[in-house]
Amino acid sequence: MSYKAKFRVWRGEGGEGRLEDFTVEVNEGEVVLDILHRLQATQAPDLAVRWNCKAGKCGSCSVEINGKPRLGCMTRMSTFEEDEVITVTPLRTFPVIKDLVCDVSFNYEKARQIPSFTPPDDVKPGEYRMQQVDVERSQEFRKCIECYLCQNVCHVIRDHEENKPSFAGPRFLMRIAELDMHPYDVADRKDIAQDEHGLGFCNITKCCTEVCPEHIKITDNALIPMKERVVDRRYDPIVWLGNKIFKR
Ligand code: SF4
Ligand code: F3S
Ligand code: FES
Repeated sequence: MSYKAKFRVWRGEGGEGRLEDFTVEVNEGEVVLDILHRLQATQAPDLAVRWNCKAGKCGSCSVEINGKPRLGCMTRMSTFEEDEVITVTPLRTFPVIKDLVCDVSFNYEKARQIPSFTPPDDVKPGEYRMQQVDVERSQEFRKCIECYLCQNVCHVIRDHEENKPSFAGPRFLMRIAELDMHPYDVADRKDIAQDEHGLGFCNITKCCTEVCPEHIKITDNALIPMKERVVDRRYDPIVWLGNKIFKR
């Protein structure tokens, strides 16, 4: 069964832009990315949209659909009413290059600033022995497809450009937590998490967890445990308050 959907898509570049209206065919089983491709093929050949796998695994097709950060390739058209206007806009936290394509290099810069896995000098590759519980803990974090939806939605940088230099964002604070939990990592992650990557800015709003397409429990399993590890050395008012409320 086909029908015509109303799409409102952000078009523009160089800091200028506007929402443009389209009426476009939808077929059974299609996702939002299919419709954007049909727009390119039929009405807007120069529409810029980033994608790669169309299977929810490359993290390229991140956009905001009706204001909610989503993967275009994993958002089924059947989740909308047929007469609903579907608005597709670029990620708001990063500069737009053209139409729906953003410059996400902020995330790569943050990734580069985190010292890589640092094993002890006397343990050679092939000699690592880990408990299954340690393997499983980091397995969850390694499901990350680097779609940056969590980075896009976190209010610390979404509404505060000035925080970007001092806040790595949930994806990379999770990476620091993953390394800190690794039994063979000997680098000191706690001071850099707080001093260089802004762990203290996170006030546990959990918006990052809500949008993660891999359903990683970023806040509960990475950020809060990392805050607790840091608080052994440092004072963090959010952890202090949490302990007051929940551990009475
Ligand atoms: Fe995307 Fe989840 Fe990874 Fe964040 S943690 S970049 S939301 S997959
Ligand atoms: Fe931001 Fe997630 Fe913390 S949305 S404030 S990093 S819980
Ligand atoms: Fe790869 Fe959507 S195209 S995640």
